[in-house]
Amino acid sequence: MCGIVGYVGNREASAVLIEALKRLEYRGYDSSGIAVLTQSGEKNPLTVIKSPGQISTLEKKVKISGSHTGISHTRWATHGAPNEVNAHPHTDQENSIAVVHNGIIDNHLALKRELAEKGHVFRSKTDSEVIPHIIYEEYKANGNDLFDAVRRAVKKLRGSYAIIVLHRDHPDILVCAREKSPMVLGAGVNEGFIASDVTALLKYTNRFMFMDDGDIAKVTRNGIYIEGPSGEVAAHEWTQVDWSIEDAEKGGFRHFMIKEIFEQPRSLHQSQAGWRSEEDNIPRDLARAEMIRIIACGTSYHAGMVGKHLFERFTGSPTVVSMASEYRFADTTSDNPLMIFITQSGETLDTIMAAREARSRGLKTVAITNVVGSTITRETDITMYQRSGPEIGVAASKTFTSQLMMMYLFSAHMGYHKGYIKRDDYNSIKEHLRHTIRAVEGILNNTAPIKEMGEWFSRCENAFYLGRYINFPTALEGALKMKEISYIHSEGYPAGELKHGPLALLTDKTPIIALVASDHTYEKMLGNIGECSARGSPVIAIAPEGDAEVEKYTDRVLYYPNVDPLFSPIPISVVLQLLAYHAADHRGCSIDKPRNLAKSVTVE
Ligand code: M6R
Repeated sequence: MCGIVGYVGNREASAVLIEALKRLEYRGYDSSGIAVLTQSGEKNPLTVIKSPGQISTLEKKVKISGSHTGISHTRWATHGAPNEVNAHPHTDQENSIAVVHNGIIDNHLALKRELAEKGHVFRSKTDSEVIPHIIYEEYKANGNDLFDAVRRAVKKLRGSYAIIVLHRDHPDILVCAREKSPMVLGAGVNEGFIASDVTALLKYTNRFMFMDDGDIAKVTRNGIYIEGPSGEVAAHEWTQVDWSIEDAEKGGFRHFMIKEIFEQPRSLHQSQAGWRSEEDNIPRDLARAEMIRIIACGTSYHAGMVGKHLFERFTGSPTVVSMASEYRFADTTSDNPLMIFITQSGETLDTIMAAREARSRGLKTVAITNVVGSTITRETDITMYQRSGPEIGVAASKTFTSQLMMMYLFSAHMGYHKGYIKRDDYNSIKEHLRHTIRAVEGILNNTAPIKEMGEWFSRCENAFYLGRYINFPTALEGALKMKEISYIHSEGYPAGELKHGPLALLTDKTPIIALVASDHTYEKMLGNIGECSARGSPVIAIAPEGDAEVEKYTDRVLYYPNVDPLFSPIPISVVLQLLAYHAADHRGCSIDKPRNLAKSVTVE
């Protein structure tokens, strides 16, 4: 989704703003822009430059020196085409105020009508443009106090927003406000920063303050002042974020995604090692939950589906998984489940709104997230961090396997404290996880056969991914990975369901990816492979090393190192990530920034 940055300090603001925008490219965007104040003695010190397309195009247009305060934006179009006029920053008609906005203003049409009656003229087709115009009116009417004008203006907005406001007559001040859209403040020496996420600012600072909904902040080079929704001074804590700038760079890899795939032995190890401190913060009474409900979107939802099997197996508590966007609209049930929200970014609006809904129903809520201080951490009772390190590629890879790690550890912890499994079982699960990390290393040490298969796969247009039991979600995730980065239409299916309809779609041009684990589903899966082969479909089996049987059913097998089958979703997922990556790379796709997608989905 859109990215925003604000800077005030002694550096060249235009350079900081462009550099920080580049760090936000991964969120997905179609145009960008910048507004800075210069002290060049010109009549209007406010300069606004915008451009459709890449940030590099904007960068070429920005030839500014002597700027020390400014704002910038990457836009992901919602209202109005992606062109220069609709790009942010937007200004009032006198070009005195510039605003960048993430989110959607639901009542913008009514506001535009009201303002038009007062003589305001709008240039763009965006909802965002009303904001500088409203601030302009409030500023004029209330004694030229910018902070007060923004406070009054946001009261008129309905919807979601993170805004930064720059005024030509206040060269050392930025005012920002947030409602349902992420926003973080950063501090350096004699400089202040604002951004939609911390990765934008890692080059400059590791000290962050996360804003809450309803907060308005004034940021100057000397400090930060925040007021909460009722005008009270909001004293949020500063948080040290231990991600480094190198973590957020490609480090010699061609794409962030392949770097992040290869980082998995480390990220999985970090998740497991970090569990020791997470565990200490889990109240013991959590284990008494008689029912569990997991809520998430996309890849995180697939992690939740694997989690369902694990919670049921290790705790004996019935567990259901719901998509956040659906849970919110479901009828209220009379049960009292423990609610677990999985979101790597911690900013997915559907998941956040579902957490609010659950809290309003009086339910106990737990968040599993990767981003320290993200919104979900304030919307839930307990937070567990998965510690994957920053993930820049839009397609989730290392954050998914870490989420799986968290599912194993959390469910086993609950089961042990409930008395459903023994201490030895808990220890043995942890040992299996260590072994599984070694299996992932094994896959990454020899990726050539997967690359070759990915290149063959790149010529296909449709594919089915089949799995059973705990690997049905793995199939869904593998298919999602393939479709989102290579644009090959891929569907994940429970292998037993194929004969109830989709078999009709099989042809010799529809490859099947069959996920094989040596558990109670094994024979049935071989049967399903046979069904597909008999219809002429090329079948690629992903099977544990040493399985000679599966070769009798198909001659295309990608092997993963042997692990206990209950843990097989982790190594199989790594194989499927690589398969998708190489197929997409061979097709020349934009792997880190797939078309139409964004890393952080902050709209509903
Ligand atoms: O940040 P979240 O985990 O809440 O994100 C949820 C989905 O938007 C995300 O997993 C999405 O499906 C990924 N792009 C998949 O690779």
